[in-house]
Amino acid sequence: MIVRTAVCAALAIALGASAVIAQSKAIAERKEIMKGVGAAAKTGAAMVRGSAPYDNAKAVQVFVVYANAAEKMPALFPDDSKTGGETTASPKIWSDMEGFKAAMAKWGAASKAAQTSVKDLDSFKAAFSAMGKDNCGTCHEMFRISKN
Ligand code: HEC
Repeated sequence: MIVRTAVCAALAIALGASAVIAQSKAIAERKEIMKGVGAAAKTGAAMVRGSAPYDNAKAVQVFVVYANAAEKMPALFPDDSKTGGETTASPKIWSDMEGFKAAMAKWGAASKAAQTSVKDLDSFKAAFSAMGKDNCGTCHEMFRISKN
């Protein structure tokens, strides 16, 4: 009896561990991508504030990072990645996957458009702040839970 329980426990741990690896990979990957987005946003914010000189190539690169993220993110929310890995993804992503994917697609399209429309500091300021409000903010409000 004791042996059987121990075997069952070992099996449960082994199965549990493989599930954790699969889920935490998706979670780690999407968090890493979003961290890159956060870093790009920081570069953009520094130019907008004037604490870094405006560089048009860098400004365009901010939106390249965003567009790449918007393309990769939708595939990183498998059913087994709802919790764990300190994710801040909201359960709403899975209850409204279509809405979430649409928000990603909207962000991707806006980021691509901004890559060609940005010409100078003024146009960058406009595109950058609109992006923060319409995409980062809106999506986080809908699809991300705040960690206390
Ligand atoms: C369409 C939805 C969506 C858009 C648009 C979006 N995000 Fe996110 N973001 C998320 C989700 C979902 C998470 C939580 C991922 C997780 O923890 O699993 C997240 C997490 C983050 C994180 C935390 C990463 C970490 O350390 O775990 C940062 C920083 C971030 N986003 C920055 C941004 C910025 C800046 C923008 C806009 C330029 C943006 N995001 C646009 C959905 C979005």
